[in-house]
Amino acid sequence: MNTVLDLEKIAKENEKKLDEAKLHTQYKIKYIKDYVRRWLNVAINYRQRNIVFIDSMCNAGIYKTGIKGTCIEVVELFVEYAKENKNKQFYIFLNDYNKYRIEILKIIISEYKNIPTNLKINITDKDVVEYLTLLIEKNAFNNSCFTLLYTDPYNFGIPNLLSTIKAFIDKYYCELLFNYFSSDITRNKNNTSAQNKMSTIRNELSSVITDINIDDDENKKILKKLINTYKNTKNIKYSFAYRFNNANNTELYYIIFFTPHKRGLELIKESIWKVFNGEESFKKQIDIDKNQLKLFSTDELLINTYSGPMKEAIIKLASGKKELTYDNIETYILENSLLKDSQIIKPIINPLLDSKIIEKITPEGVRKNNYKESKYKINDKI
Ligand SMILES: C[S@@+](CC[C@H](N)C(=O)[O-])C[C@H]1O[C@@H](n2cnc3c(N)ncnc32)[C@H](O)[C@@H]1O
Repeated sequence: MNTVLDLEKIAKENEKKLDEAKLHTQYKIKYIKDYVRRWLNVAINYRQRNIVFIDSMCNAGIYKTGIKGTCIEVVELFVEYAKENKNKQFYIFLNDYNKYRIEILKIIISEYKNIPTNLKINITDKDVVEYLTLLIEKNAFNNSCFTLLYTDPYNFGIPNLLSTIKAFIDKYYCELLFNYFSSDITRNKNNTSAQNKMSTIRNELSSVITDINIDDDENKKILKKLINTYKNTKNIKYSFAYRFNNANNTELYYIIFFTPHKRGLELIKESIWKVFNGEESFKKQIDIDKNQLKLFSTDELLINTYSGPMKEAIIKLASGKKELTYDNIETYILENSLLKDSQIIKPIINPLLDSKIIEKITPEGVRKNNYKESKYKINDKI
């Protein structure tokens, strides 16, 4: 797609109105793009005819130096997939309340002369809460839609945003990627001159979390409570939060992923290993060390680091239950560590079996080396 030159020109002409793409932003874009490609590969094989991506706070589509924003990366992916999958209908909904940015985005989109007829792009400039409320009221996405919602603010505390997203995921069977700007809470918590901001944050969190205690709850606990609130909605079953740090390596935000499908959880992990080399969080060093990391395979090292606490956790989980299914173990590990589904048997289950802490019960008629259909329990003989 030959749009690179045009993008640079548009970026130069609109420099003052555009954001700078910091390194963490560039990686956030790579991450979402990588996941959307994997998600599209699944979507085209599902029964739903309509494939829908909604970026409810999409920005201008480019950054100061002409770097593409997530929404433009997604448009290009959708063009590619729409061309190859004529039996499917593709929709992209882009929204940002900044009218200048939306104007720029419209100019960029008009540069694409090859948009196939089975791809529709809708662009609006509304406030995010108003926008999502409208989509809820319109009954826009029914059972024939395979939907992904992305909401990416650069601060925390937009009034009614959390409850509106909750209503959205409660109504529509969809996946959600949400930027939880946790550093806004940490930063303002002990700042006496930020009382108004803190009161907005407090109101916003308590609109969806009943037992919130901002002063006493640590950041991790607030994150957990927020995740649980969204997991208590009708369709969402799995989640994973990936942390982004700033240049000084302190926590900035989490991109929290919510999905009704186990497959989604597996795929987001693939993206994390691809884009961040399996690192626990995005930090500045990732970019600098990338080539070095590739030389010495750090995968083994990381798998060892992550599997230690997971072995402990699985023992604890098994102690509290009569037996665990493979699915119980897999879900726990996928949601609570950086490990992927292919990093469960060898680094975690086998060592627990070898040390005889856990025993495997294989049902009659199932092959002895079948892990997925076996049950696991604490070995009582030890
Ligand atoms: C972090 S940027 C989004 C970046 C984009 N997701 C990307 O990857 O390129 C946040 C955007 O939200 C927009 N925004 C902030 N508050 C908003 C609101 N209440 N309603 C709609 N958009 C809002 C800003 O104008 C900004 O463009």
